[in-house]
Amino acid sequence: MEKLVIQGGRPVHGTVKVSGSKNAALPIIASSLLAAGSHTLHNIPRLRDIGTMVRLMEHIGAEAEWGDSLTIRTNRFSAIEAPYDLVKTMRASVLVLGPLVGQLRRARVSLPGGCAIGARPIDMHLKALEAMGAKIELKEGYVEVFARHLHGADITFNRVTVTGTENIMMAAVLADGTTTIHNAAREPEVVDLADHLVAMGAVVEGAGGDRIVIHGVDELTPKPHTVISDRIEAGTMLMAAGITGGELSIENFPAAMLETLVTRLKDAGMSITVEGNVAHARGGGRPRGINVATAPHPGFATDLQAQFMAYMSIANGTSIITETIFENRFMHVPELMRMGADIAIDGGIAVVKGVASLKGAPVMATDLRASASLVLAGLAAEGTTELRRIYHLDRGYERIEAKLRECGARIERQEDAE
Ligand code: EPU
Repeated sequence: MEKLVIQGGRPVHGTVKVSGSKNAALPIIASSLLAAGSHTLHNIPRLRDIGTMVRLMEHIGAEAEWGDSLTIRTNRFSAIEAPYDLVKTMRASVLVLGPLVGQLRRARVSLPGGCAIGARPIDMHLKALEAMGAKIELKEGYVEVFARHLHGADITFNRVTVTGTENIMMAAVLADGTTTIHNAAREPEVVDLADHLVAMGAVVEGAGGDRIVIHGVDELTPKPHTVISDRIEAGTMLMAAGITGGELSIENFPAAMLETLVTRLKDAGMSITVEGNVAHARGGGRPRGINVATAPHPGFATDLQAQFMAYMSIANGTSIITETIFENRFMHVPELMRMGADIAIDGGIAVVKGVASLKGAPVMATDLRASASLVLAGLAAEGTTELRRIYHLDRGYERIEAKLRECGARIERQEDAE
C-alpha cells in the first residue's frame, strides 16, 4: 500500500491543468456498447475507476486501446454482465445496465450493495426499466434484466439520481417510442452524455433541465467525443489555493459548472476571476465561516462537501454544513478532528467551529472525496500529515500530488509498510 506524506504550511503557487471528468467519462465509455464499431474518446482521465470501467468493457467483449485517447471497439459481445468483483470495487459499474438493456435487451449486473458514503440502492434504475417493459429478477446477488419489448415510458424519479438518469437515457435511445424522464438529474455529466448520444444519432431533448425526452431510434453510429473537464477536481484546486493562502491559475476550468462553489468561496473571502477557460484563484488569511447545504446540480455538489469542510475548519467563525444527498458522507470529520478541527455532527448537519490552524497528523482516507479533503487539510496544517489508504484518492484524481508538487506543495507518495 502507499501513503502520501505532506509537509504542510506552504502556500501553493503556479498553474494546474484540470483533467477530464471521471463521472462524465464513465457513462460515455459505457455508452459505446450502444453502437457497434470503433469509438475514439478524448480527454479521458487516467485513473483507477476508468481502468475498472475499461476492464468491465473488455469483460463484455469490447477491445480497448490507450494512446493519447481511449479507443473502444465494440464489434462483439461475449458477456452481458457486470460481475461482482468489478462492481464491488466501483459502484459506477452499474452504468453498463442501461446500454446492455438498450442494445441487447438483456443484462446481468451484480447488485452494488452499500458503500462508505451510504446505502446507495439502484431501485429507481430498476423501477424505470420495468416501466419500459423489462422483467427484473434478483438471483444470487445479481439483478437479471430481460426485455422482450423495450418501449418508451413516462418515468418520474422520486429523487434526483445521476447514474439513474444516465442509465435510463442509454436504455431509451434504442427503445421503441418516446421516454420522458421527469425530475431528471441536471448535472453537467448528464449533459455531456446526452451530447455524445445525440452525436451518435440519438434523439435526446432537454438534458440539463429536469425533464428529458428521448425518442428511440433504430441504431447509433460511433462518433469521437471529448469529455468535459472535471468540475470536482477544478473545485478541489480552487480550495487548495484558498486553504493554503496561495495563488493558482487553473486551466481547463469549467466555470459554468461551478457557479455555486465559486460564489460560496468568494463569500468566504477568496478572490476568483475567470478569463476564458482559466480561473485565477487567490486565498488570503482565514476564510469567513459560510454555511452550505449540498443539493443536486446546480446546487452545492456533495462531491465538494468534504473539501469545503476542510477549508471551513480554519475559518474565522462557524460554518454549518448540511449533507442532503448521502446519509453517511461525514467520514472525513473524525480525521479532520485528529488534525485539530472542531466539528460536531448531528445527523446530516456538521457544525464547524473554525480554529486558527490545523496540525499535521497520521490520518486515514475513507472514500474518494474524503481523501481530497485530507490532502487539502494536510497542505494547510503545521507539520507532517501522513495520509493512508490513498487508493481511494487514486480512484478519482489524476496525478493530484504531482500537480500540487509542481505548485510548490511538499507532498510525496511513499510505500507504506502497514
Ligand atoms: N438513490 C436511491 N435509489 C436509486 C438511486 C439513488 O435511493 O435507485 C439515492 C442514493 O442512495 C443517494 C441519492 O439517491 O442517496 C443520490 O444518488 P445518485 O444516484 O445521484 O448518485 P450516483 O449516481 O450513484 C453520482 C456520482 C457520485 C456523486 C452523486 C451525486 C458517478 C459515477 N457518481 O453517483 O460521485 O456523489 O452522483 O452527485 O457519477 C464521486 O465521484 O466521488 C461520487 C461519489
